[in-house]
Amino acid sequence: MGQQDDSMTHDVLVIGSGAAGLTAALALAEHARVLVLAKGALNSGSTAWAQGGIAAVLDTGDTFENHMRDTMVAGAGLNRRETVEFVIERAPHAIARLVELGVPFNTEGPNLHLTREGGHSHRRIVHVDDATGWAVEAALLKAAEENPNITLLPNRTCIDLINGKHELRYSGSGRVWGAYALNTETGRVEAHTARATVLASGGAGRCYLFSTAPRGATGDGIAMAWRAGARVSNMEMMQFHPTCLYNLEVKNFLITEAVRGEGGRLINPRSGKRFMEFYDERLELAPRDVVARAIDAEIKRFGLDYVHLDISHMPVDFVKGHFPTIYEKLIGLGIDMTTGPIPVVPAQHYTCGGILIDLAGRTDLPGLYAAGECTESGLHGANRLASNSLLECFVFGEAAARDIIARWDTFDAPPPVRPWDESRVTDSDEEVVIKQNWTEIRRFMWNYVGIVRTTKRLERAAHRIKLLQEEVGDYYGHFRVSTDLIELRNLLECAELIVRSALKRHESRGLHYTLDYPNTGNLVRDTVLVP
Ligand code: FAD
Ligand code: SIN
Repeated sequence: MGQQDDSMTHDVLVIGSGAAGLTAALALAEHARVLVLAKGALNSGSTAWAQGGIAAVLDTGDTFENHMRDTMVAGAGLNRRETVEFVIERAPHAIARLVELGVPFNTEGPNLHLTREGGHSHRRIVHVDDATGWAVEAALLKAAEENPNITLLPNRTCIDLINGKHELRYSGSGRVWGAYALNTETGRVEAHTARATVLASGGAGRCYLFSTAPRGATGDGIAMAWRAGARVSNMEMMQFHPTCLYNLEVKNFLITEAVRGEGGRLINPRSGKRFMEFYDERLELAPRDVVARAIDAEIKRFGLDYVHLDISHMPVDFVKGHFPTIYEKLIGLGIDMTTGPIPVVPAQHYTCGGILIDLAGRTDLPGLYAAGECTESGLHGANRLASNSLLECFVFGEAAARDIIARWDTFDAPPPVRPWDESRVTDSDEEVVIKQNWTEIRRFMWNYVGIVRTTKRLERAAHRIKLLQEEVGDYYGHFRVSTDLIELRNLLECAELIVRSALKRHESRGLHYTLDYPNTGNLVRDTVLVP
């Protein structure tokens, strides 16, 4: 225990125990004592849910240049070339490291088996069946748990970053010294201080009514960094996955893109015919934004609830062998993918925008680093290429750790900071306000800020956000914090950043498609918001 009640000091604080956070923690632990905080269970982030795999140039016929080109074609040219190079060239090393940690990737003879996904010109996705993330998360967690320099604390919901405003001897500086976190086991707010802080808190998918992301993807890190004064970039680039299971009971089960990669076809259930040929010559393997828009258009044009994804023409053993997890899940719901089609709809899947970072994972704020889905590193541009996301987590988790170690002597020890002040708040007597506002945000974001946008719909969303900000701000000021309330505040903050960014982009590019500006402009520009 450190200087005050409910406070702890470590060398480095990592917020998030997914691929980015644990990669950073393991690299840092060679030199420093690291505290990793997670909201809820340690494996509750998106990482454990990843199905398809991790992209890396490992095939003899493939090149870094091919992977870079595919990444930039998918990203509609908004990617930063130096970031794309930086990440893609480090992919084989990242995979080798995971093999060392014991991730049991599928093999084919002496080599790793490579599957294919939309937008990739070559087979280059290493995977563990159709549950890659689960195996990766388990291997990283095992290594972290065995490391004496790493402390893992689940059930800590970070509320805000600690900076100069919170120092006992107020300095007001933007220097980040850690974070305040609600311990959901004790109900108390702890101050966790450190010389350096790494945000690895995942995406903001839960801003949308339908999302493949887990419940905790509420953009907490993006909102915390923004409130502390860091710039965010390209928040309008929200990725929708084309094929989420359509089922009235199971609302967010992904059907991996690898199903299309291995021959799955998209079919209009009314006509019984394939439809991708009317939208893109790459058919089912066009980049995600193209396929998601095509499905959305088909659904709207024919008044459908869903379209069909069909791989039943492939041999039964092939389907069961490649997609054992999906097969089992669907059989449990009465759908046999070896004999018939799967009903699917697009759903929010990935947050391409986020906290602006450089190649070392540095944010605008001294002492604050970030890695993974909460960031905008320049890799994804206007649309992420499939299976480039876990890769980004490994590369930037490691890059941030290396930079912190290299600059260690320049980082001061954290000063004493003020404990969390609860003297002016009481327990909420109206929890219903939180639930109502959660649902409202997610619904209008889905309806007004979804796959196809217009300026009028975005303005409607902006208007609602303004009204809710007053209500939520008032509620936050009067009542004791809970995870639901912290998340609601962050969802609203992220919704505002998404809508503001979307209103600023007067063109359609990648994932941002608006009927008011249907063409892609000549000027390639990030949407950078300054707090
Ligand atoms: P996460 O793994 O989401 O971890 C976030 C961490 O932050 C968690 O530990 C969480 O508890 C913690 N956290 C959040 N808020 C707080 C807070 N306030 N306080 C404390 N801790 C907090 N990408 C691929 O490359 N290949 C795939 O095959 C693939 N498949 C996917 C399938 C699905 C269903 C989904 C949803 C995503 C998929 N993705 C895939 C995307 C990829 O999984 C994610 O982008 C990636 O795992 C993000 O990792 P991360 O470490 O940034 O965050
Ligand atoms: C999938 O398996 O389709 C998801 C891959 C990804 O999001 O990169």
